[in-house]
Amino acid sequence: MKALILNGSARGGKGVTGKMVNALIRGLAKGKAESTTFEIRRMSISPCTGCLSCMHKNPGICAVRDDMEPIYQALKASDLLVLATPLYVDTMSAQLKTVMDRCLACLQPFLIRDDTGRVRHPYTWRMPAKFLLLSTSAFPEPEVFAALLATFHAQAANFGSKAAGAICIPGSIVLQVEPVLLDRHLSLLEEAGKILAGTGSIPGTLLQELNTPPVDVDSYLQVAARYEDWCREQLNKARRSREDASI
Ligand SMILES: Cc1cc2nc3c(=O)[nH]c(=O)nc-3n(C[C@H](O)[C@H](O)[C@H](O)COP(=O)(O)O)c2cc1C
Repeated sequence: MKALILNGSARGGKGVTGKMVNALIRGLAKGKAESTTFEIRRMSISPCTGCLSCMHKNPGICAVRDDMEPIYQALKASDLLVLATPLYVDTMSAQLKTVMDRCLACLQPFLIRDDTGRVRHPYTWRMPAKFLLLSTSAFPEPEVFAALLATFHAQAANFGSKAAGAICIPGSIVLQVEPVLLDRHLSLLEEAGKILAGTGSIPGTLLQELNTPPVDVDSYLQVAARYEDWCREQLNKARRSREDASI
């Protein structure tokens, strides 16, 4: 299996998304899959201009030439696309959405009915057969991922791919204050990567465990109080240095 991992976090490998990506990569490697990872924040990728040259003039080729080039090559060569994104304003990050918009280049302009009878475009080239979502959020409730999950499943279906699963771990504020709270999920994620590489899917029970929040809301609020104390300290420090500067 060849996996392409798109890390859409503005903090790249430093955040919780990065830790999730690294655990998955370790598992994929144990299962003998080959992975290529792109940190989108380090790349120069412009938004789709909507010129539709990829449909009407130069089939399958985007008119905008930038750092999407290596991503297009990797998309065409991979069996699995991992969309790794923090929850940003209730959906995927702008960094990742920009890349997904540019994937419009795989579509033909014509209209057909797909397997489920919906009207969609046929493809000039195919996106990876399977999509996997990895995400995290600051807030602790799993419901925060509803809009992102709807988008992910719609994107997989509209690009003619199957969702291999979605792994959403809420509560990143406390997972950063107490990193040990994330450890069990990272081990499970590694195991999921290994199984995915070997079998092409992740068992439902494992997905369920991965999607069970590492901390309940009451414990979250207790640990988050330490984060709030730290925030107050930072705000006071900044206020004092502004006051000193204005003297
Ligand atoms: C622009 C922005 C928007 C965010 N929107 C949400 C949100 O809607 N819901 C939420 O629970 N967390 C939100 N967060 C918090 C991030 O999901 C959280 O900090 C996450 O850990 C960031 O990923 P990272 O650790 O990989 O950097 C937002 C953070 C940023 C920077």
